[in-house]
Amino acid sequence: MNQRTYRVAVLGGDGIGPEVTDAALEVVRAAGVAIQTTPYELGAARYLADGFVLDDATLEELRGYDAILLGAIGPAIGDTRIPGGVLERGLLLRIRFGLDLYINYRPFRGVTGSLAEGCEFAIVRENTEGPYAGEGGVLRHGTPHEVATQGSVNTRFGVERCVRYAFERAAKLSRPKLTLVHKTNVLTFSGELWVRVVREVGAEYPNVVVDYNHVDAACIYLVESPERYGVIVTDNLFGDILSDLAGAVTGGIGFAASANLNPERASASMFEPVHGAAHDIAGTGKANPLAAVSSAVLMLEHLGETEAASAMAIAVREFHGDVAALGTAGVTNQLIERL
Ligand code: IPM
Ligand code: MN
Repeated sequence: MNQRTYRVAVLGGDGIGPEVTDAALEVVRAAGVAIQTTPYELGAARYLADGFVLDDATLEELRGYDAILLGAIGPAIGDTRIPGGVLERGLLLRIRFGLDLYINYRPFRGVTGSLAEGCEFAIVRENTEGPYAGEGGVLRHGTPHEVATQGSVNTRFGVERCVRYAFERAAKLSRPKLTLVHKTNVLTFSGELWVRVVREVGAEYPNVVVDYNHVDAACIYLVESPERYGVIVTDNLFGDILSDLAGAVTGGIGFAASANLNPERASASMFEPVHGAAHDIAGTGKANPLAAVSSAVLMLEHLGETEAASAMAIAVREFHGDVAALGTAGVTNQLIERL
């Protein structure tokens, strides 16, 4: 049999990051997908060791892989040695922007006992614009006349490609529905652009029911009636905030997976659990690997390994064990047995 071997860059990162990416890779191999991994030591530990965050050459190297699997990046809570933004802007966002990973796709499924038990929906977050673009600056810093501005970039091109991707996803649902989330009553300039693009692109998808929520209302609905959602499409910052809330109502961000995608495959896409580095439990074997495994499912879907991806997704879905009792290795082994 002529099986393809995928080249995957592994950025385990900090805290529990390396443990959960190792677990995810074990499950991928058990699912029968051949991967050749290249580790990259990037993140808080690396920065503290030698000051390196990311350079152009490494970014270009990353571009050429079949996929990038990321664990978690960041120092321990309370560790103030790294100024805010150094790793966020210098590493994570530099990869997202530099590789033009313009979609952040975050699927959610309410686990047993969660507020959103049984509900399935996804957030399609624009991943290269909005307030994350970094427009703004500071004048007269530290004086009584200090000025700080922080803009939001919304281009017709960027909004349209994001909305189009969201409609494609929504159209595949058994009950096709797309909800635009914004704050059009206050952010009237960007809001009007998003609304108009959703209306125009939506005309090409007559089967998709289109809805709109203000972001504050969406925070209520996600808690009170999450079953109303199919695909939520929204800007970079709203998507960031809503996806943490969505994680909380569906069982905790220990389960939440994400894909930073360049759908045209112009560069490697990057797959990462939504959760952080959880330094407090690093090395104790207690980390929940399910979000990393689910991120690897998204990676296999993107690579076209649909059979292995759905087998892994079913193993995750049918896992009902006690994560705290089983620990990382126990959960991983149960998933592998199920495969
Ligand atoms: C996320 C994270 C990042 C973001 C941070 C770490 C820059 O919160 O992936 O949701 O804001 O996008
Ligand atoms: Mn976030």
